[in-house]
Amino acid sequence: MSAPDYDPKQVSLLSPEQLSAALAAGLAGFAAARTLDELAAAKTAHLGGHAPVSLANREIGVLPPAARGDAGKRVNDVRRSLDSAFESRKGALEDERDARVLVEERVDVSLLPGTVLPGGRHPLTTLQERIADVFVAMGWEVAEGPEVEHEWFNFDALNMPADHPAREMQDTLWLAPEDSGVVLRTQTSPVQIRSLLARGLPCYVVAPGRVFRNDALDATHSPVFGQVEGLCVDEGITMAHLRGTLAHFAEATIGQGLETRLRPSYFPFTEPSAELDLQCFNCRGQAELQPCRVCSNEGWIELGGCGMVNPAVLIACGVDPERYSGFAFGMGLDRTLMFRHGITDIRDLYEGDQRFTLALGTEG
Ligand code: FA5
Repeated sequence: MSAPDYDPKQVSLLSPEQLSAALAAGLAGFAAARTLDELAAAKTAHLGGHAPVSLANREIGVLPPAARGDAGKRVNDVRRSLDSAFESRKGALEDERDARVLVEERVDVSLLPGTVLPGGRHPLTTLQERIADVFVAMGWEVAEGPEVEHEWFNFDALNMPADHPAREMQDTLWLAPEDSGVVLRTQTSPVQIRSLLARGLPCYVVAPGRVFRNDALDATHSPVFGQVEGLCVDEGITMAHLRGTLAHFAEATIGQGLETRLRPSYFPFTEPSAELDLQCFNCRGQAELQPCRVCSNEGWIELGGCGMVNPAVLIACGVDPERYSGFAFGMGLDRTLMFRHGITDIRDLYEGDQRFTLALGTEG
């Protein structure tokens, strides 16, 4: 037997046995790949630059020309078989992946959305609106005024000049500098003045809003609280109109069938002045029969102040008190809400607990 004219070790890769082994290993490697990443690694091992079939391909050049055709066909057959096995496994794995993604990432559009606690309107806001609605239904208008107010509107025009002792009763927050004459309004009553000056007569306005006093925060006092002001100025207005209006208001917003009473009081901007009391909704004025925590056994709950507009206020606004008369009232919203719901601490209204807002916000 004549010696081969090429090194058999170099080209053993080209032997049919070696090529069959490379093919079998490649087919098994592709079939064993469970993921596209594993398949990519198998491709590098069996079809990459250092794979047996690639090394064999490079050896073809060293063969004698007569042997190249046969060897080249064998190598190409193996490469084609490996390419096609790779492609078909790749297709199968991609189909599997797509099917899995469709299941895993399925969106059921018919499912109800998860429980998200909705926000609620604050009970003070809803109470303000309910009160305003009662008056709008009677033909009144809703008026607004600034929270940062000049002392002339907050005090002077309301018959409380600088040396008036009543100024001391409303612990005022003054804005710097000291002599600015600007305050955080202590009451909604300055809206009376603004309304008379801006709207003319007759004047029927209700003005809910926030007011500020230098009061320490405790169970019944807040430095920021809500009031609602009412003002009616027209010809022929008497205390009977005040009485009837407030009785209707109390009936519509707080307690059906509960009586109201006016108790003599003093405000510089009303004359005569009174406190408006509402029969306690809890004991219905029967506290002597059973102790009542809500009204401290008084049988009555104080809602706010009221009275006939002082002629001095009308004059300050250019209104002729000989021709016109009127009544005004101002109520604390926070305490009204507290009485209504048996809330014992005013701080509950300001702590922002969503459960509280949700429970009371719709009712006011
Ligand atoms: C006034 O503020 C007058 N402007 C009311 C008025 C208007 C009288 C028109 C006559 C005519 P008074 O200072 O009493 O009045 O306050 C009215 C209500 O505000 C009180 O009845 C009370 O319910 C509430 N209030 C007063 N201070 C506080 C506070 N620190 N925290 C919560 N509520 C308060």
